[in-house]
Amino acid sequence: MSDARPILFLDSGVGGLSVLAPTRALLPTAPIVYAADNAGFPYGTKSEAEIAARVPALLGRLVERYRPRLVVIACNTASTIALAAVRAALDLPIVGTVPAIKPAAAMSVTRAIGVLGTEATVRQPYVDDLAARFAADCVVVRHGSAALVALAEAELAGERQPDEAYRAVLAGLLGQPGGEAIDVVVNACTHFPLVADRLAAAAPRPLAFVDGGPGIARRVATLTEGQDWPAEAVAGRAVFTRLDEGARRLAPTLAQYGLATIEAL
Ligand code: DGL
Repeated sequence: MSDARPILFLDSGVGGLSVLAPTRALLPTAPIVYAADNAGFPYGTKSEAEIAARVPALLGRLVERYRPRLVVIACNTASTIALAAVRAALDLPIVGTVPAIKPAAAMSVTRAIGVLGTEATVRQPYVDDLAARFAADCVVVRHGSAALVALAEAELAGERQPDEAYRAVLAGLLGQPGGEAIDVVVNACTHFPLVADRLAAAAPRPLAFVDGGPGIARRVATLTEGQDWPAEAVAGRAVFTRLDEGARRLAPTLAQYGLATIEAL
């Protein structure tokens, strides 16, 4: 008998779709539950205490309801703040999303990398630690942008955003001391790979963008190796903490990611 237990993804909004897509590519018949905590959106402007209280409690409810085989916290903000607490509270494999500083440092020729995340993520000690371990010989310039999170949400809801808005976000990173030498940018918020082409087009010079999505997908495949999956792809479900008009506007985009139904938690 095949194992119908899903993989559960959590983000504040649509960002986690950038992690879901490479995971589905590796595990095409994996049942998926994609949870968007839109009632708590955005995470990136919240305090550490708010995120640390909210995310483990919410995941507790989600795990009870959907009984997943594995959870992916498809959000850098939630992972860099609450991953350890979630792992301590839940008795199943938890995969977090942390800024892809290691691959960025491996790629950088100029030894200057940018970390583009939310305001909450870029100030985390977790990021200091990654920079010290994997990019000790690089200048690491950070920029937190709530604007870019909002741009990605709007684009995925079908509202085209102007190039100028992307240029302004990049100027906030590249305009800092050391920013002129950056050749690789870490998309350290899961929303940002969804608009990576817009960022690249708005960049004043060629920049490489990296994110953790493909690495997380490989990690999920490794952790579930040898498990049974349904023989054919089953429709995925999107779960919102507030099922409002905004959530419903995302239906066509969610369907493209295999999430055929929308429901409230
Ligand atoms: N997608 C989330 C991340 O990776 C955060 C977006 C938000 O601010 O809610 O950090």
